[in-house]
Amino acid sequence: MAIEDGRDAQVIERAAQRLARGELVAFATETVYGLGARADDDAAVARIFAAKGRPPEHPLIVHVADASAALQFVVQPGAAAQRLMQALWPGPVSLVLLRQPGQAAAAAGDLPTLALRCPSHPVARSLLQRARALGVPGIAAPSANRFGRVSPTRAVHVQEEFGPELLILDGGACEAGIESAIVDCSGTAARLLRPGSVPLSELRAALGADIGSALPSSPQVSGSLASHYAPAAQLHLVTREQLASCVAQLTQGPRPLKMGVFARAWPPGVARAADAAFIPMPDNARDAAHLLFDSLRRFDALGVDAVCVETPPDDATWDGVRDRLQRAAAPR
Ligand code: TXA
Ligand code: MG
Repeated sequence: MAIEDGRDAQVIERAAQRLARGELVAFATETVYGLGARADDDAAVARIFAAKGRPPEHPLIVHVADASAALQFVVQPGAAAQRLMQALWPGPVSLVLLRQPGQAAAAAGDLPTLALRCPSHPVARSLLQRARALGVPGIAAPSANRFGRVSPTRAVHVQEEFGPELLILDGGACEAGIESAIVDCSGTAARLLRPGSVPLSELRAALGADIGSALPSSPQVSGSLASHYAPAAQLHLVTREQLASCVAQLTQGPRPLKMGVFARAWPPGVARAADAAFIPMPDNARDAAHLLFDSLRRFDALGVDAVCVETPPDDATWDGVRDRLQRAAAPR
């Protein structure tokens, strides 16, 4: 079992049968790997919370094969949600909508709303379609990592988190590399609860309107906890100008630390220890997002003591990457 080829129809069939029986299956999506259970079975969904060590008040995203499958779970979406679905589904955008009473209560953490997403990755899509044919209307799936840890972007990352017993549908390295954008469409105005790989300009264009930011009263987004997505080593997020002094300070003290650096360039003028790990940060946000979580996991695997990361540029295309880095850097 363990890691299997998610492009193999027989593997998908077995995975869909497992889901139908209420078991967990991990699978590739275009954002990060998800840990799935059938969304209409509260006992199955409870297994996700148990496996992740996730507090029950952090609701899950329900994945659906298409917009029509969404209607089993939520009341008729309004105009804003419909525009986003039409323009951006399938794709890395989750929509928070008003839940049909009695549907997916455990996945929603009993909130009156439910987050829905229609993924574009072929492995996720064939799993959703096969499972639907077996009577599974949707798959509740958080990122396939233990609570608070770095989200997985490769099948081996999932295995590192949950061990060899879990069936993991391999779909290669996730293209986006960070989780979906979450747009709350349950109120009068659309609000962005979590930035993702889709730029704000694309969300605005799809909506034909501006998009608000989360209200203090918006439901908790676990990724919005100050500390999240954190590698084992303390992560320092510093400007390009501060990078040299930060690395120098950490490596040149009486007890020099083993460093990981994720930046556009190794800081000039700073000696690079033989055991230092340097991963170049791509200079465009798409490629940087694709590499981000994988890089943090590589630093962990190398056993670095501290990680220095260069703050991304200030423009909106970097919002998703900047958001994940700020949470990874927050004190624990
Ligand atoms: O890209 C993704 O969205 C990935 C893949 C697997 O699809 N999933 C993912 O799930 O990132 P998770 O559980 O790691 O993050 C889901 C986020 C949580 O922060 C949760 O609080 C928020 O969605 N969420 C879920 N339901 C919500 C709701 N009704 N209102 C507000 N936020 C909600
Ligand atoms: Mg997560």
